[in-house]
Amino acid sequence: MDIIEALETRRSVRSFTDEPIGEDVLRTLLALGTKAPSASNSQPWSFGILQGKARIRMLAEEARQVLVSGITPGSPLEKYASMLENPGYDMFHGAGTLLFVYGRKDMPWHVGDCSMCIQNIMLAAHSMGIGSCWIGFANWLCKTDAFGARMGVPADRELVGVVCMGHRKGELPPVRLRREPEILFWECAG
Ligand SMILES: Cc1cc2nc3c(=O)[nH]c(=O)nc-3n(C[C@H](O)[C@H](O)[C@H](O)COP(=O)(O)O)c2cc1C
Repeated sequence: MDIIEALETRRSVRSFTDEPIGEDVLRTLLALGTKAPSASNSQPWSFGILQGKARIRMLAEEARQVLVSGITPGSPLEKYASMLENPGYDMFHGAGTLLFVYGRKDMPWHVGDCSMCIQNIMLAAHSMGIGSCWIGFANWLCKTDAFGARMGVPADRELVGVVCMGHRKGELPPVRLRREPEILFWECAG
């Protein structure tokens, strides 16, 4: 699969088989992530990996409870209330692998740098038949100092994103429609 095909066909995947992603494949994906550009070549990323469906399901439940306690009138979570209040809701969609990407807080562009790294990993995974989905909901728990300390993450790192991953179960749905690019300016002075 070439890069254009990967871009054209990638979807967020929320259904996974029981086959674990092997260590070699994960290491290859991380290495491809680090090929991303970064400000001043700072490469401010570091990674955490959690594997095991049961372990990840427990974390999903812990994170769901944190989210539910954060649903207040006017909060961005309010529109997800009925979904999140369902104890059966698994925010990691039954994945067997979670990837945590952390940025060095002292690097001013670490959020952008790490996001590019995540995009590399998601596209490379897709080209290998591995599905992934960035889970923003995870941040409510996983971005806390307490969670970082529990996982041994140094205090100078900030969580940028959590991605659930696994071998895709079933066919990829068609690509979701995108709005036409909104062009705010296009100056042609030549
Ligand atoms: C920063 C970010 C946070 C996201 N958070 C979640 C999430 O918490 N749960 C989820 O199921 N999908 C999440 N997604 C996936 C989006 O819903 C998905 O990318 C979007 O609907 C477009 O669909 P596609 O990725 O299949 O093209 C997130 C995506 C991004 C980039």
